Amino acid sequence: MPRPHSSRTSGRKSSRPAVDYRTRQPASPYELEVLPGLEQVAETELAGVALARDIHGLRFWYPGDPERLTRLRAAVAVYRVHSWDVPRPRGLLGNQQLGELLSYLRGVVEYGGHRSFRISAAGKESAVMQRLAEEIQRGLELPHDPAEGELVLRLRPEENGPGWEVLARLTPRPLSARAWRECNMSGGLNATIAYAAHKLAGQRDEDRIFNPMCGSGTLLIERALMGPYDAMVGVDISESAVECTRTNLKAARKEIEVARIDALQTGLPPRSFDLVMADLPWGDAVGSHRSNAALYPAFLTEMHRLTSKRGRLCVITHEIKLLEGVLREQTAWDARELFQVYSGGHYPKAYLLQKR
Ligand SMILES: C[S@@+](CC[C@H](N)C(=O)[O-])C[C@H]1O[C@@H](n2cnc3c(N)ncnc32)[C@H](O)[C@@H]1O
Repeated sequence: MPRPHSSRTSGRKSSRPAVDYRTRQPASPYELEVLPGLEQVAETELAGVALARDIHGLRFWYPGDPERLTRLRAAVAVYRVHSWDVPRPRGLLGNQQLGELLSYLRGVVEYGGHRSFRISAAGKESAVMQRLAEEIQRGLELPHDPAEGELVLRLRPEENGPGWEVLARLTPRPLSARAWRECNMSGGLNATIAYAAHKLAGQRDEDRIFNPMCGSGTLLIERALMGPYDAMVGVDISESAVECTRTNLKAARKEIEVARIDALQTGLPPRSFDLVMADLPWGDAVGSHRSNAALYPAFLTEMHRLTSKRGRLCVITHEIKLLEGVLREQTAWDARELFQVYSGGHYPKAYLLQKR
């Protein structure tokens, strides 16, 4: 049975893919890279990939078209994996191993169309890694760009074996760098976090959704791409943020109404929405701790007015102490934590609030 980690029975690994005995098709091992904290969401999404087999956490075998894997929305990146029975990276420079390595990487480049490569490994400045980079550059006729290389190669010791493995990123850009993101703004949410928040807050076709501080539109667009909803609108107090959202919506080919309005003074009737998704100012790139101290309680009160009887409010923030303090002092909402994630040097949390 194919396993995600290299089989130790045949000695040196072959670069040919193993055969998945259930589908009789050649299968390759893959691994997902995920923001720490979103592993469960990514594993659930992976479980929905019909042909993925022998799933162990974020490692799995897959015999199908890799294009399906590049559509995963909870993962930052997807890598193809190959392992060798060599005690240290120097072993990859042996004639046979190097031939296998180049043929494996050629397959990845053929798929992804990468125009350069880089190595990401402990000791990547060492003489052995430099030699490896030279051989790959020559063998694949692909420029080595240590800072921005599109084909990211991760070298590391096998987790459950004595050898080394090389992970090659399937796509030139991370999956989290969405094709729709033409406009970025400081404080923009990583799209995989937006996806996870929507999944865990509940995806319902009948939801009327409000995104009160839409920024560049990440939560709006990720939800629009996930499937049907009844209605969705976004607002932001900043004109440039609204423009940024509109640019991204156009790139995503999604028509969602957005406007420059203070989320606390929309003038909308009570119970207008079933789900409010909010990535509040975190007090560093956007807003300040001082202004947030006034904003957060007022926001919870106004969103309570705007949500339906069984409405949900999902809040994402890095101002954890502040939000948890405000939640302790109110009685209108029941709150539970959905996840905490590590992203861009921050540890934001997502909460789901339901009306009492
Ligand atoms: C953390 S950013 C949101 C980032 C967004 N999720 C993204 O991916 O780009 C917070 C946003 O809240 C907006 N904002 C702050 N106070 C607001 C208010 N009272 N009404 C509407 N928007 C507000 C800011 O202009 C900013 O765009």
